[in-house]
Amino acid sequence: MKPAPRTFQVKSFGCQMNVYDGARMAELLEAEGMSAAGEGADADLVVLNTCHIREKAAEKVYSDIGRLAKRPGGAAPMIAVAGCVAQAEGAEIPRRAPAVDIVVGPQAYHNLPALVRQAAAGGRALDTGMPPLSKFGALPARRRQGPSAFLTVQEGCDKFCTYCVVPYTRGAEISRPFGAIVDEARALIDMGAREIVLLGQNVNAWRDDEERGLDDLIRALDALPGLARIRYTTSHPGDMTEGLIRAHAEVEKLMPYLHLPVQSGSDRVLKAMNRSHTAESYLRIIERVRAARPDIAVSGDFIVGFPGETDAEFEATLAIVAAVNYAQAFSFKYSPRPGTPAAEMDEQVPAEVMDERLQRLQASLGRQQLAFNQASVGLCTDLLLERPGRKPGQLIGKSPWLQSVHLETGAAIGDLVAVDLVSAGPNSLAGRAAPTWLPGEGRGPAARTERLDPGLRRGTARVAA
Ligand code: 5AD
Ligand code: SF4
Repeated sequence: MKPAPRTFQVKSFGCQMNVYDGARMAELLEAEGMSAAGEGADADLVVLNTCHIREKAAEKVYSDIGRLAKRPGGAAPMIAVAGCVAQAEGAEIPRRAPAVDIVVGPQAYHNLPALVRQAAAGGRALDTGMPPLSKFGALPARRRQGPSAFLTVQEGCDKFCTYCVVPYTRGAEISRPFGAIVDEARALIDMGAREIVLLGQNVNAWRDDEERGLDDLIRALDALPGLARIRYTTSHPGDMTEGLIRAHAEVEKLMPYLHLPVQSGSDRVLKAMNRSHTAESYLRIIERVRAARPDIAVSGDFIVGFPGETDAEFEATLAIVAAVNYAQAFSFKYSPRPGTPAAEMDEQVPAEVMDERLQRLQASLGRQQLAFNQASVGLCTDLLLERPGRKPGQLIGKSPWLQSVHLETGAAIGDLVAVDLVSAGPNSLAGRAAPTWLPGEGRGPAARTERLDPGLRRGTARVAA
């Protein structure tokens, strides 16, 4: 039997929703009187907040459990498996890894304290119930907050892409109520958040009984004093409404960044994936978004080697990449997931073919990302400082286009500062502090950013200074 834990550690893997859930689990455990274990210290309770999206991610949990169970020089901690592997595998987890004390799904983690008590009393505790929305009402108020805060507004998915486990692990699409979201946003701002990232597996499918959509939510957040930036992720092309596109033109706090997964450029593959869009309809959405916000950074997700994908179909993916010109992207080899329709499809693509396709795709996306970063050199823009850099006096912040920018500055984490972007690499840029914006300047999002000109413009003088 393991004693009642006094310290805990939550390790989150996978998507940003898991990061959000991990933060809320930590708040729950703190409200119960436990405290976070210090850096490098052994915690009495370790929560592995897992991801099931690809096989590699799902298998990782078992090696982590093995390592914890054999913790050198100390007693094994109480181990809780949370997140999507917990939901998908349930009681199978302790059967395969008897060191596990608690299994708790993503819709049930508000019960974590009770499960911990149960485990401390000598039982094994399992809860993979999926009561829609009830966890949010049962969670304690938000605590500590960095400059950029995640806020889950929508969960689950009704789209049933044939490769994806999310509809099974996170359940049906549900939207949190408008008022609860705005209240949580206020609490986050009160605790120091300058940016809020609205989260959902299909965040742009958020809607409520009064026919409000994500754009209405964005406009409500725009009105909150103290908030400087709004982002949202992840969106589905099928829910990219006119209102949301218009918000990109009209809401100054809405950052010029859109993560819009396309997965493939082949219409045959998209249909087999049960995506509701074609290559052409996706490109038309990008066109409309760019018409509303010309400088928007577009990012996407891609899967190579979906069952039956031919060379020509893969070439179509390279073609859509060339047509869109991505600022950032995430690309994966197809991984068959138990219980999904695609896992049963014939013609699974051989591993070496997937490897080769992924390499070619990533080379192309990498070139686009570098080019996007290089094209930002010479811009003067704003930066939200988020964490310390490696060198003393250096901080790392995010540009409006979600680029990481290194800056030597006397400003503090959480400050929004003006910066000249002076050099770029594939994954980050270097900036130089610029004078803060003058009053009256920067009306409208585009006006906040200006290109330095080697003439008389004030930006050039700043760079030279
Ligand atoms: N195999 C590989 N990649 C997948 N994704 C989702 N399911 C799978 C799978 N079975 C990718 C998609 C999705 C991202 C979060 O993960 O690109 O957009
Ligand atoms: Fe992974 Fe999807 Fe679960 Fe996020 S919702 S943790 S991406 S399986």
